[in-house]
Amino acid sequence: MAKPKKRYVCQACGGVSNRWQGQCPDCAEWNTLAEDAPATVFSMKHDLSSGGRAVEFVELDKPGALPTRQPTGLAEFDRALGGGLVPGSAILLGGDPGIGKSTLLLQAAAKIARGGHGVVYVSGEEAAGQIRMRAARLGLSDAPIKLAAATGVRDILTTLGSMDAPKLLVIDSIQTMHSDTIEGAPGTVSQVRGCAFELIRYAKENGVGLVLVGHVTKDGSIAGPRVLEHMVDVVMSFEGERSHQYRILRALKNRFGAVDEIGVFAMAGEGLEEVDNPSMLFLSGRDEPMAGSAVFPAIEGTRPVLVEIQALIVRLQSGATPRRAVVGWDSGRLAMLLAVLESRCGLNFSSAEVYLNVAGGYRLSDPAADLAVAAALVSAMADKPLPPRSVWLGEVSLAGEIRPVAHGGLRLREAAKLGFDRGFGPADVKGGSEALTYDGLGQLANLVDRIIGNS
Ligand code: TYD
Ligand code: MG
Repeated sequence: MAKPKKRYVCQACGGVSNRWQGQCPDCAEWNTLAEDAPATVFSMKHDLSSGGRAVEFVELDKPGALPTRQPTGLAEFDRALGGGLVPGSAILLGGDPGIGKSTLLLQAAAKIARGGHGVVYVSGEEAAGQIRMRAARLGLSDAPIKLAAATGVRDILTTLGSMDAPKLLVIDSIQTMHSDTIEGAPGTVSQVRGCAFELIRYAKENGVGLVLVGHVTKDGSIAGPRVLEHMVDVVMSFEGERSHQYRILRALKNRFGAVDEIGVFAMAGEGLEEVDNPSMLFLSGRDEPMAGSAVFPAIEGTRPVLVEIQALIVRLQSGATPRRAVVGWDSGRLAMLLAVLESRCGLNFSSAEVYLNVAGGYRLSDPAADLAVAAALVSAMADKPLPPRSVWLGEVSLAGEIRPVAHGGLRLREAAKLGFDRGFGPADVKGGSEALTYDGLGQLANLVDRIIGNS
């Protein structure tokens, strides 16, 4: 029999090559190919049609108790999950390093353990002492969590097999786990896949809610094979800017619930606090609507983010050349918008200094932000605030038309979820939200009329 050929698997996308290459031919990432176990060669001798055990069929309406969801006690976590942990299900939680995954899971674990349920927390990243220190800081030291620092899946499963199955098993993280039946270092595709498979099988057989923490690559997808996302029931991502306080927990896939609910948390000194009224997040510190400020529902990759755009206009007395300064946006695009506002809407910026700032250190490159920028400029010019809790989206053409944008409906639904109730943009947006009144402006001139005209 021919010797099975070596094969190389991309650690980012799972693509297979027969030789090592610097760049993955499938996803174009660099230095991601690693040698993997040879593919199994199947032959005609593989006859699986006899010698197996009989499989039991069940009716959908079979009498008896259905598995009930176990609330974690963190309402925002449960909301994102669609109502709590389903026994025997596997959740993959991804997120940037240091975003708070371990903190979130330790808090959820403590809530469940305090409710009298068994909880096992296995960390392959931190020593037990470090986790105890974190628990002390979070005020969770008294929670009866079974805590271990381990990376061997065989050791973990042997130990779990000799005790009562817990309600919740946390594995932090799947990339640190190692199975001695599989070749390769922890974190390689075959190790991640193999370890996840064994842990998920244990969870399904014992009705345990399993949470696997997954590292993410720099483009935000979960590191390791894509197949990991297929193996689990729920894929969640924990998002936010590390330098900012707020964190959003979002389900990207959920076999037991909807994926459009988000959970919002704030990282504080004593761990994560739930934010049950997320609209406060953007309104706090700004009780009164301010002139020159407009909110734009941005999309970052797959994640919607609401961004505040601030404009300031200073009228010059003398004939000095006015300044234009932009932070977080393209200055060429600002010049274009000012020209459109001048020539199509009759506004005059020629003797005014214009400052534009995207709050929070964001960099916007999406042309859909045009209208929000224009709204901020016109509002600053007129010294009139825009309607409270309003969002603005749309690309502005040189002719002064407001053009449709990608994911318009999704942006509006996210804005509505975060407490915004008015939207302005292109004439027609499909799939908005009932909680949000939408105004199709069509032409930039209509925006100017709205803000300056009917005072
Ligand atoms: P962590 O949960 O370790 O992140 P992850 O597991 O996703 O890598 O969170 C680490 C960050 O959270 C760290 O930068 C400090 C911050 N933090 C707080 O601000 N307050 C706290 O009470 C805790 C425990 C962490
Ligand atoms: Mg961690």
